[in-house]
Amino acid sequence: MADPQAFAISEWPDTDEIYDRLEVLLKQPPRPIRRDAMQEFLGYFEQRCAHSRALTDEAKQYIPGGVQHNLAFNYPFPLAVEKAEGAHLWDVDGNRYIDFLQAGGPTVLGSNYAPVRERVVALLQSCGPVTGLFHEYELKLAREIGCFMPAIEMFRMLGSGTEGVMAALRAARTFTGKKKVIKIGGAYHGWSDPMVYGLHIPGTGRREATGIPRSASAHTQECFPNDLGQLRRLLLLNRLRGGTAAVIVEPVGPESGTRPVTRDFNQGVRDLCDEFGALLIFDEVVTGFRLGMGGAQGFFGVKPDLTVLGKCITGGYPMAGGVGGRREVMKHFAAGIGGTGERAYVGGTLAANPLSCLAGYHALLEMERTDAPVIAGRAGDRLTQGLQEIIERLGLPFVAYNQGSIVHLETSGVMLLDMRHPLKLLRELKPRKHMMEEMGAAYMAQGVVTLAGSRMYTSLADTDDVIDEALDRFESVLSRVEGVDG
Ligand SMILES: Cc1ncc(COP(=O)(O)O)c(C=O)c1O
Repeated sequence: MADPQAFAISEWPDTDEIYDRLEVLLKQPPRPIRRDAMQEFLGYFEQRCAHSRALTDEAKQYIPGGVQHNLAFNYPFPLAVEKAEGAHLWDVDGNRYIDFLQAGGPTVLGSNYAPVRERVVALLQSCGPVTGLFHEYELKLAREIGCFMPAIEMFRMLGSGTEGVMAALRAARTFTGKKKVIKIGGAYHGWSDPMVYGLHIPGTGRREATGIPRSASAHTQECFPNDLGQLRRLLLLNRLRGGTAAVIVEPVGPESGTRPVTRDFNQGVRDLCDEFGALLIFDEVVTGFRLGMGGAQGFFGVKPDLTVLGKCITGGYPMAGGVGGRREVMKHFAAGIGGTGERAYVGGTLAANPLSCLAGYHALLEMERTDAPVIAGRAGDRLTQGLQEIIERLGLPFVAYNQGSIVHLETSGVMLLDMRHPLKLLRELKPRKHMMEEMGAAYMAQGVVTLAGSRMYTSLADTDDVIDEALDRFESVLSRVEGVDG
């Protein structure tokens, strides 16, 4: 049985060193793959992925952009996946890939993990996926979550991480009677109206808020990652304007730690929230259970008022999301007090269905039993160290770092551009983004699936052999970057 106090992160990365290296990367012109090699990588898709191409071409007629999921917008065209198991995926043309997307994070046990699947199948045979009435597994899951994360005294299950964040903001405003919400620039908290603000790139405010009225994010503010001084100034200013309901953070840093926080940042935010009477919301949609059964809050030793969960909460099965936290805040979700103005309204026809709750409950127990977060974290360490050695050996300016099983490989640096250098952002966003897409395509052509060419999630299924095979494949791409001899 795993130690619930064990975490995926063996050592918190030296954030100053990472930012220094990223700055050096950003100061240099992009170093893409050599044109002749890139043609070869693109040739793979033409020659080996005809069935994927036909399906996704046809899908363009019926689905905007051709795919339903943002992470599947792959260059040069999306691959259609037929089979997933453990550390691997197979596309409809029969090609096998090492899977470091892992569905965007939920499958710490690896894809399609049999012991959970078998229980889901048994449930489907007895009661089907949904009844609309109470099911014992709602209780079991909520109770189990509270055992792992004691700050979660009560839990309300919803349909997605996006919904969990919406609910958390609503509860915070109901409880405090205040309106302002501060997020960290660049963080992703789903796609609800108030959170499409400072999205991906710090300082960009409403840049991505197409179709969202100004009033919907009128009370959202952002501050730069790691800037506690700016956070304090915002909180002070807000005190004169009715106060701050909540500060919401991704506890490892925006975009799942792409812009990592310093080790003591979360404690600093906690202290400021206490000083100004704001609630602290941890968005643990990615980190919840991936970093350890106690989540990022366990790792950092910081107790949030509210925690948003998603992804791992159902072990990769549908309807993954919810919010939990202090009893006196959570009680505002109770159905019984409707109409008095005390109730924060949430709902969802399929929310907390038996399938999601049972899958989540058994996935969490299996993760604890197998020590999956820690093993996945060690795989992340091995992958990161291997990538660092390759980068060093080839004399590349690229930067690899990890927070346990969340691994970052910055080659173009696009994820680190921000509004502190607006002209650079304007000039370099597109070419650096395209380079990242090319890197993702090249890794894919070499049989490795990543998240948008710069992030990887490892899992229990990533044995040393899997990681070492992946490193060989990464090396065959990185050795064909412009300026590398050979
Ligand atoms: C930190 C974080 N919060 C919230 C969300 C939104 O979750 P969902 O996609 O389930 O709506 C995501 C999704 O990737 C996320 O990474």
